[in-house]
Amino acid sequence: FCQVQLPPLFNIPKSQLQCFGESAYCFSKNLLQQCNNAESSLDRFTSVVAWSISTTRPPSFGVAPYNPILGETHHVSRGSLNVLLEQVSHHPPVSALHATDEKENIELIWCQKPVPKFYGTRVEAEVIGKRQLKLLNHGETYMMNSPKLMIRFLPPRVDWIGKVKISCQETGLEAELCYITSSLLGRRGEHRVKGKIYQSSSMKTFYEVEGYWNSIVKAKDINSGKETIIYDAKEVYSELKTPIVKDLQGIWPTESTAVWSEVSKGILSKNWTKAREAKSTVEDNQRKLAKERASKGETWVPNHFTVSDSKEDGWDCSPIQERVPPAPIVVPL
Ligand SMILES: *[C@@H]1O[C@H](CO)[C@@H](O)[C@H](O)[C@H]1NC(C)=O
Repeated sequence: FCQVQLPPLFNIPKSQLQCFGESAYCFSKNLLQQCNNAESSLDRFTSVVAWSISTTRPPSFGVAPYNPILGETHHVSRGSLNVLLEQVSHHPPVSALHATDEKENIELIWCQKPVPKFYGTRVEAEVIGKRQLKLLNHGETYMMNSPKLMIRFLPPRVDWIGKVKISCQETGLEAELCYITSSLLGRRGEHRVKGKIYQSSSMKTFYEVEGYWNSIVKAKDINSGKETIIYDAKEVYSELKTPIVKDLQGIWPTESTAVWSEVSKGILSKNWTKAREAKSTVEDNQRKLAKERASKGETWVPNHFTVSDSKEDGWDCSPIQERVPPAPIVVPL
């Protein structure tokens, strides 16, 4: 997440782009399908809230993914969901994601730019960028943001914090979620999420939401007082399957796993010399390409997105293609 150059010893063998993509395609229970299948707009909205919570994954302390290179891509399919990511900027780091599911008629468009701020004993990485989920069968678009990643050094702790707002203009439904961490409550104070689902015009609350994003989140019906489990992390990301390469020829040279494969091999075999050399090769090649572009007066443009850097929303990424094609890497069902 941070723009600090870490020696390969501290890298987990994957790129930040891949980690970002995993929150969209790595799941054992398909909450997106649930969003699409729910009958009432309120049920769909509640399912979208649950899905949004599912994209909040446990980060690991003391390890950092690779910093993606400019134009790095990650293209993976899970069932009928095809996901394509591209690193659309290197300084600052900005990643774009497009996912389409033709069977469910669902589209995801995300843009993310992590901005780390350093506060002595902790780092807070704000994740700037729009996240859209479109349920095309219902003509509904859901807008949301990401919580912030907090890394505390003493005592060591990583957690998500801050406000997430989810809104659907077509139905007028909104949710506010607060991700909370409190060292005073010990373990019970970690990974908490609390909020409500309401009608934006009347501010009438339907559900109060409360729980832990890494275990169970419940919604309490304000009228009846009835509580239901809307999210169970165990169903979503226990027993995740490792993606497999289905079509080696179909893998682009820009694919994350190809770009970083030699570095990962070094790390996995604990040959740090090899990992360091391979990492330098990737980075030197980046610098060489940047120099060549500069000398020719060329500007790099993304292959899969048009990107604009607007002052209000930060970066905006729109996919060039209408649909993401099936990927050469697949997550077994
Ligand atoms: C580590 O990698 C280097 C460079 O690729 C290689 O020359 C060396 O033999 C490797 N060391 C071991 C212990 O495998």
